[in-house]
Amino acid sequence: SQAASSLQQACEPFPYSEDEYAYVDWDNLGFGLMPTDYMYVMKCSENDRYKEGKISRYGNIELSPSAGVLNYGQGLFEGLKAYRKESGGLLLFRPDQNAMRMKFGAERMCMPAPSVDQFIDAVKQITVANKRWVPPPGKGSLYIRPLLMGSGPILGLAPAPEYMFLIYASPVRNYFKEGSAPLNLYVDDEYDRASRGGAGGVKTITNYAPVLKAIMSAKGRGFSDVLYLDSMNKKYLEEVSSCNIFLVKDKVISTPATNGTILSGVTRKSIIEIARDLGYQVEERAIPVEELMYADEVFCTGTAVVVAPVGSITYKDKKVEFRTDAEALSRKLYNTLVGIQMGVIEDKFGWTVEI
Ligand code: COI
Repeated sequence: SQAASSLQQACEPFPYSEDEYAYVDWDNLGFGLMPTDYMYVMKCSENDRYKEGKISRYGNIELSPSAGVLNYGQGLFEGLKAYRKESGGLLLFRPDQNAMRMKFGAERMCMPAPSVDQFIDAVKQITVANKRWVPPPGKGSLYIRPLLMGSGPILGLAPAPEYMFLIYASPVRNYFKEGSAPLNLYVDDEYDRASRGGAGGVKTITNYAPVLKAIMSAKGRGFSDVLYLDSMNKKYLEEVSSCNIFLVKDKVISTPATNGTILSGVTRKSIIEIARDLGYQVEERAIPVEELMYADEVFCTGTAVVVAPVGSITYKDKKVEFRTDAEALSRKLYNTLVGIQMGVIEDKFGWTVEI
């Protein structure tokens, strides 16, 4: 077909494998990096537009030691997934949302961003080029990781003179080692994830390394991850290191309102819409940490995490437990979301993009 031959051309001089599947133990995927065949790179100089994106063999990239991203953290990332349908087609989930979030974040970080069309086109190309790494139906998904970075050299603190948009991908399944078992979270009121006026609301790389210390400390004590409180009052729930958080009380669902310090998750947004569509009341508001005491159910959402039930949360040496049985609401929301993402439940929202 024309698509196959243009892909073959784009992948020159590295032949595109026609194999249906890569040689992978599909039953034992976690969230570890598994390098795939190709990556996508597109560059842009300051005050210009991105052009001539190319697929190349996956591998190391060359950067100046004084690249803006290495010295001052001028970088953003995104995450989205491709699922393989029983019929063989590939489904992307709301790639336009990631494209728009990257544009919004790029504005905050003084970087030029690819257009929504360029972003979606690049995601499609890299997904098709790495098709043999998309797990069989029911065994996971291909996690697609777009990066935007200040790649040009800069010594004084200023926007870099050149930018690189890069996408790589890796097959994945469960994010947490717990698999699909309930998570045990720790509320850390020592470390903050983001503060007012900062960049917590965009997916900058600088939001992630600073929480490693809190994560490592919590993991060392047997917890799955950390739940952060707002930095001003240490009173309201914000988010977990790698995902957003939801509470359920008497069938009313609540999640912290995005106010500039919380990431506007694509899964968060989708779960709010699915829950409302199923007839539930969903509130986006400030949630005092004390409300955890009375919650029936708590769950996390994220592209990597999907919808993960929370079995317990520990705050100031007090452990509160939540329902996680088969009738839990998070289970129903998970099934609906993943059903749409995998193409087994009708996508009446028009969220999936088949390639
Ligand atoms: C995602 O869920 O896609 C993320 O970017 C979170 C990351 C920590 C894996």
